[in-house]
Formats: sequence, structure tokens, C-alpha cells
Amino acid sequence: MIVEFSTALLNSFTQQEQLAQTTINMLQRIDSIIERHLDLNQTLIEVAQVLHAEFEHFDWVGFYLDDQDKKGFLKLGPYVGPATDHVSIPYGKGICGQVAVSLQTFVSQDVSAEDNYIACSTEVQSEIVVPILKNGVFVAQIDVDSNTKNSITTEQTELLEAICTKLSPLF
Ligand code: SME
Repeated sequence: MIVEFSTALLNSFTQQEQLAQTTINMLQRIDSIIERHLDLNQTLIEVAQVLHAEFEHFDWVGFYLDDQDKKGFLKLGPYVGPATDHVSIPYGKGICGQVAVSLQTFVSQDVSAEDNYIACSTEVQSEIVVPILKNGVFVAQIDVDSNTKNSITTEQTELLEAICTKLSPLF
């Protein structure tokens, strides 16, 4: 009994360690992309590629930016995954538009339960959108779509938020 309990505890500790290690590795990879001082689009596409490659259930990873030419709209930026028709989204509309207004991370573990949602594909089951703020002002967001329900973990949420903080000075 005690041995079983200790093994379970050890396994859970090891799992936590692995998760923490994944986060540290990912943040180091993001740092090394940023340190190359590429242009903004190239940096964002490389960040999207790293996330898409690392997490199997991140089926679409991309950025929406505040559209400087169309006030109150988001415009599609670099992304990895299937093409989307949603190249311009009004603030407030869909999960992306809501985040542009609320300035808060939005996690939906089941997009079919959302009443303000724009479907990019019928395959998408869960989604996370994290805002990128510069001096408190919304400039862009990371959007991740997953074809699996309940697939966005707390660790991934924290990782994406940390990445957004690192990307903020580039805007
Ligand atoms: N699902 C998003 C639209 C963007 S696509 O997922 C790429 C939304 O509800 O705002």
C-alpha cells in the first residue's frame, strides 16, 4: 500500500518535472528565435511552427493582429495549419474578437458550447486565444485550434501566456 502510494506520488512528481522541462525548453526555443532579430512576420511564423510541431493536438496555430488599416478589426497574420476564410474579424466577434476586447486569455475546451464562436473548420473541438499586450494595449493574439475536445492544459495556457509576454516588445 505504502509502496503503491509512493510510486504514484513519484510518477506524478516525475510527470510534473517533465511538464516543467517542456515549458523551459519551449521558452528557450522561443528566446532563440527572438534573438535572431528576424522581421516580425518571420518571427511569428517560426513561433507558430515550433508550437505546432511540439504539441500534437495543436492542429492550427496562428496569429491575429490588430488591423492598423481597419479600426476595430483583427487581421490574420502568420499561421501553420489549414487555410482559413477568416482573414478579417471584427472586435467582439468570435473567440478571437472577444479576446481583443476583454484582453483576457479565453480557453474553450468544447467550442460547440460557445454561442459567440466562428468556426474555421468543422473539425475543431477546442481552442485557446491569448492576447499580446503592449503597454496594456492590445496588439495581437495567438490562436490555437485543436481537433480534440478538452485538450488545452493549464501548462500550455501558461506557456502561451509566457510566449505572448516575450513577443510583446516586438510590436
Ligand atoms: N475560431 C475563431 C476564429 C479564428 S479560426 O479559429 C482560425 C473565433 O471564434 O474567433
